[in-house]
Amino acid sequence: MPDALKLGFVPFTRLRGVLVAFCAENLKFGPATKAALSAAEAQLRRAAAADRFTGKNGSVLDIVAPSGLDAPRLIVIGTGKERELKQRDVVKLGGIAMGRLPSRAAEATILAEFGAGALKPDQVADLALGVRLSAYSFDRYKTKRKEGEERPEKVEVHVACANPAAAGKAWAGVNAVAEGVVLARDLINEPANVLYPGEFARRASALSQLGVSVEVLDVPAMKKLGMGALLGVGQGSAHDSRLVIMRWNGGKRGADPLAFIGKGVCFDTGGISIKPAANMEDMKGDMAGAACVVGLMHALAARKAKVNAVGAIGLVENMPDGKAYRPGDILKTMSGQTIEIINTDAEGRLVLADVLHYVKQRFKPKFMINLATLTGAIIVALGQEYAGLFANDDKLVERLSKAGEETGERVWRMPLGSEYDKMIDSKFADMKNTGGRWAGSITAAQLLQRFVGKTPWAHLDIAGTALGSPQTDINKSWSSGWGVRLLDRLVADHYER
Ligand code: BES
Ligand code: MN
Ligand code: ZN
Repeated sequence: MPDALKLGFVPFTRLRGVLVAFCAENLKFGPATKAALSAAEAQLRRAAAADRFTGKNGSVLDIVAPSGLDAPRLIVIGTGKERELKQRDVVKLGGIAMGRLPSRAAEATILAEFGAGALKPDQVADLALGVRLSAYSFDRYKTKRKEGEERPEKVEVHVACANPAAAGKAWAGVNAVAEGVVLARDLINEPANVLYPGEFARRASALSQLGVSVEVLDVPAMKKLGMGALLGVGQGSAHDSRLVIMRWNGGKRGADPLAFIGKGVCFDTGGISIKPAANMEDMKGDMAGAACVVGLMHALAARKAKVNAVGAIGLVENMPDGKAYRPGDILKTMSGQTIEIINTDAEGRLVLADVLHYVKQRFKPKFMINLATLTGAIIVALGQEYAGLFANDDKLVERLSKAGEETGERVWRMPLGSEYDKMIDSKFADMKNTGGRWAGSITAAQLLQRFVGKTPWAHLDIAGTALGSPQTDINKSWSSGWGVRLLDRLVADHYER
């Protein structure tokens, strides 16, 4: 994919480079597309017949040197039966369009029109979002390209539409979200020798350029607050832990903020309860929850969302060491509750216990949503399609589920209850940090719930959705940046004044 993507909006009359068009079943084109491609219509029909292309959803017809057009290539993408398209469908079509460009192409125009006719400016921008996300790649550590994999330094993609000015306006907001997703992906893909807690905190601090106020708490500051659980996890690392608080105040002055909390374990070896070697490298992504929170705060600030929001991320590295915490240790959390350590690999919940309590007490938020690559068990339960959702508030569940269906970042509610809660009672302390093999994701969530009090709260276990992502039309990268679009949508739909 290109090193740099230049995206812009143009009228239907200004078509340059490779052309990408959409059609519905039965080769049904919108009027502007039909007019633009009329010179090549006969060839197009012959090619479609030869390829048995009818416009089925996701199918593609690729014509080299289309007759009568200046374009080196015409790519037609099927959108299937005409139906109400959700945001996720439109974004996906943009991704397909970008993914289908020949890797050498330096310029392309996508005709933003479906069979049914012109797209609304918001939809044109969503199409561009798909282009942007599909074009993302993380190759800053590749110093050479193989022969045949050379790519143009810059790719220009024009999105042709009825009202380029209106689309450009809509894009300003959507681009803010795209940048947030890209930022999250970059942070997650970054190796742990580069991105340790201090460096992560520095990168989060760059949000101040957008008007976000950023505070970084170091180890002495957290000691003073009594954050024994977070600090216990980080004490075996050569890299000091950090807590970063980001605040965006675009809403009513003094209105209670929304709070987003992320697990930021920059590397999770398991600690003294060390993990097996296979796939341990993936644990550089154990800070995906924190990356999502930073990406979301970027999105909210860059589009000047009319909301007050707090982002809080607990940044640690979980290492085995002479100074590391051990099984049997008892840690005292900021809330005063004590936790007996059974397994030092169940560290994320310890970090979150202190951050949740701190945010609840300091900000009295309208709700708290935390994101964490918390348990392998959620991957066993849900695979990579849905994130696990645990919550004490039905309204929040309903809104998150709806936003998930719209954006395609879907969530599935899992149970909580006193029977599960009992499983983490401890002989020696108020609770223990694991509840055994059964219901592993639920007992992890029960521990978190012991730190949220009555605040409406949702916990998203993103171990399956955030890392080692399957290749999709809108993500070719190891990390998807999962959650930024979901939460931005939640905020946009329900919490902006
Ligand atoms: N970070 C892991 C969970 C994880 C596993 C995330 C795979 C992404 C991919 C977490 O800290 C962990 O190690 N959890 C343990 C908990 C167990 C010790 C109770 C797990 O899931 O095995
Ligand atoms: Mn772990
Ligand atoms: Zn972990």
